[in-house]
Amino acid sequence: MRKSNPDLRVTWLARRHLPRVVQIERMCFPDPWTHEEFTAELNQPRCIGMFATNLDRAVLGYVIYELHWDHLRLLNIAVEPLVHRDGAGSAMVASMAGKLTAEGRNRIVTEVRESNRVARTFLRAMNFKCIRVHHGRYEGSSEKAVEYVLTLSRWNLYVAAAIAAKQREVMS
Ligand SMILES: CC(C)(COP(=O)(O)OP(=O)(O)OC[C@H]1O[C@@H](n2cnc3c(N)ncnc32)[C@H](O)[C@@H]1OP(=O)(O)O)[C@@H](O)C(=O)NCCC(=O)NCCS
Repeated sequence: MRKSNPDLRVTWLARRHLPRVVQIERMCFPDPWTHEEFTAELNQPRCIGMFATNLDRAVLGYVIYELHWDHLRLLNIAVEPLVHRDGAGSAMVASMAGKLTAEGRNRIVTEVRESNRVARTFLRAMNFKCIRVHHGRYEGSSEKAVEYVLTLSRWNLYVAAAIAAKQREVMS
């Protein structure tokens, strides 16, 4: 369970942040989205962009997701490699999870390349569950995509475990 970083916050992404987003994207993915692809995605009415920042208001990482009637689809998430393992990724997932409701959008769904071990470890750490493997997802490659889901109930278990861990830390 991760330690909390009090300086982190997650807020709305604007066009002016895109050059930095594209820079992080290139550092993080072998097949990065271009500036045009981010723009086209964010122009979709149901698409949301958020970023993680610190006291300097620097863009540490970003998340792009779609609103569906009963779920959120996480399309892209990445963090500046210099600050990996410092909580920015989990802060962005927590920000998305905070929008889930029992009666409406009650889960987050995402897919990652089977070979992306760090991403899969990260998703498992956040209590996402692997539900399916898809073939033929990536053009010109036989790599499989692994689909994960984080339901509101699994998120609540994650939060309860985090609180219990914090209490144990304070007591010791
Ligand atoms: C995946 C990614 C977004 C995680 O961001 P992050 O800010 O480093 O993640 P966090 O610090 O919030 O990590 C949360 C937990 O995930 C797990 N985790 C994250 N990165 C890990 C790694 N490299 N190895 C093992 N566990 C890892 C840990 O349990 C971690 O908690 P801990 O540090 O307290 O042990 C980041 O590694 C990244 O940008 N990767 C490249 C882009 C990518 O693959 N995106 C798709 C992600 S689904």
